[in-house]
Amino acid sequence: MTAMGQGAPERTVSGQMTLMRTHWVADTAGLAPGTKVVLSGWVQRRRDLGNLIFIDLRDRTGMVQLVFDRERGTSPAVLEVADSLRSEYVLSVAGEVVARSAETVNLKIATGRIEVLVGEAELLNAAKTPPFYIQDDIDVDETVRLRHRYLDLRRPQMQAMLRLRHRVFRAFREFLDDHGYIEVETPILTRSTPEGARDYIVPSRLQPGEFYALPQSPQLFKQLLMVGGLERYYQIARCFRDEDLRADRQPEFSQLDIETSFLQMDELLDTMEQMFVNVFRETIGVELARPFQRLTYQEAMDRYGSDKPDLRFGMPIVDISDAVRGTGFRVFEDALSQGGVVKAIVAPDCAHFSRRQTDELNAYVGGYGLKGVAPIAVDAEAFRSPIGKFLAPEQMQAIVDAAGAQVGDLVLIAAAPRKLALQALGALRLKLGDELGLIDENAFRFLWVVDFPLFSYDEGLGRYVPEHHPFTMPKWEDLDKLESDQGAVRAQAYDLVLNGFELSSGSMRIYRRDIQERMFAALGYSLEEAQEKFGFLLNAFEYGTPPHGGIAFGLDRIVMLMGKGKSLRDCVAFPKTSSATDLMMEAPSQVSAEQLNTLRLQVRGRTNQ
Ligand code: AMO
Repeated sequence: MTAMGQGAPERTVSGQMTLMRTHWVADTAGLAPGTKVVLSGWVQRRRDLGNLIFIDLRDRTGMVQLVFDRERGTSPAVLEVADSLRSEYVLSVAGEVVARSAETVNLKIATGRIEVLVGEAELLNAAKTPPFYIQDDIDVDETVRLRHRYLDLRRPQMQAMLRLRHRVFRAFREFLDDHGYIEVETPILTRSTPEGARDYIVPSRLQPGEFYALPQSPQLFKQLLMVGGLERYYQIARCFRDEDLRADRQPEFSQLDIETSFLQMDELLDTMEQMFVNVFRETIGVELARPFQRLTYQEAMDRYGSDKPDLRFGMPIVDISDAVRGTGFRVFEDALSQGGVVKAIVAPDCAHFSRRQTDELNAYVGGYGLKGVAPIAVDAEAFRSPIGKFLAPEQMQAIVDAAGAQVGDLVLIAAAPRKLALQALGALRLKLGDELGLIDENAFRFLWVVDFPLFSYDEGLGRYVPEHHPFTMPKWEDLDKLESDQGAVRAQAYDLVLNGFELSSGSMRIYRRDIQERMFAALGYSLEEAQEKFGFLLNAFEYGTPPHGGIAFGLDRIVMLMGKGKSLRDCVAFPKTSSATDLMMEAPSQVSAEQLNTLRLQVRGRTNQ
């Protein structure tokens, strides 16, 4: 290859790279005209005017316009290279930064005040026409994008998200390193840990008929690291869960997993808050206010019908049972006499809602099993409501006052068993918050939810199951109810919630064998079963286990919320679909009969050769 204006450069299509990049594309924006650069990247677009060819060159930092101009010295051979370029061809060029004329400045791109006049060009590789344009906000089926994920990753949005992910991971690591935490890896091939989902299992060749489980989290290992005297542990850990997938769930995901010894819950939560303040400041320049708000589980459920409430807007659920008691209105009275509740939310400035709109709300709560929500529109002169004829004006007034509604508002009332009313009103609150534009999309509202119940009752199984996991320490003052009143035992557990998403859960742990055995017994394990499944932990507890506790944050969710992604798939390089498949790798897939034979496995209905 030759410098500008000297002889005829050869066109290389061999892919051999001789021009070595001197600058990232984005950096050219700040270079003085006349600066010599070598740039490398992909062809975004070609505009061919014969002896004048424009190429938009893209690298991971941005885009810049290259100019191949016969009149300004580009040789015919280099023009010929330019002429052959198509979308996604891989290219290196040497050239000179030139200022664009006033009428050709393009303020839509960061480098739009300059262009690079090309003297040499090396075509490093050709490309087939990609199945979709490499640009943001393209209307293309997600399955096509996932099948060609390596092309999807070239889009600026994906690049930005992965860069953010990298910076966030680094900032967490730096903070924890500064605070004396040591990163320790724990096994991937292990045995089942009870986090509540199904395990992915891996057959053992050396012990035919036996299986490893992939960790749902490093929970037991991190506790054993505390027994092992590490005191401050963290790990960015891959976790694997075979569960029903949603936008905020992947079958494999990354946790920032933390465990500490000799720390009280408040000290730990305080450090975690500082960590988030640091990470948000350093990565996205957002200053978070401390301390983070705290609600007990009970308060969160009562006010928002959820243990992960979105606090970016108000509209709390209010109990109006006292205001409706004794009104004689059957629907309310029956609910109360059957042990239920009458609760309401107030939709601000929605008194004008039409019958069709309130019918829609009824249909929506119907999806949660609620018969409907009774509306009261608070007009300046009167209340308008289908239940108005059953209630005296002063009774209506009492309800409206109890709900805290103002003129112009719409009160929506649910009379039902407590759990059902809270669930349905909680969901309705979110729907209305969204539809009425009450949510500040730029806000980050953190919340600690504390004092979770230790157990929840599983109707299907007909018994209590751990609300978190069986290693969670009960509150000391509730310990004596472990056998007698399981529903009333509270846990030393805490969740961090951000904008309606559960970011993490954690707890102080049981560190005494006797309490752990009582916990297993409360969950219905016999002593033998407990020993068989968790003997290693119970035994370890006998060798001087320090009081310990920890937390694990879902990193994919954190990055999604920081980067304003819509789903975890937006912030994982190679995600899986909602049916847990990797469309690009075509995983899962069948394995050969030979592999099955080696493992002494047989798939039902199929014969191994
Ligand atoms: P938990 O099961 O609550 O706790 O998980 C902690 C956090 O991990 C994230 N998370 C997920 N993210 C993406 N896809 C999934 N399928 C998924 N499942 C969970 C969530 C969640 O809050 N060992 C305990 C923690 C502890 O007690 O220290 C645990 O794993 O953000």
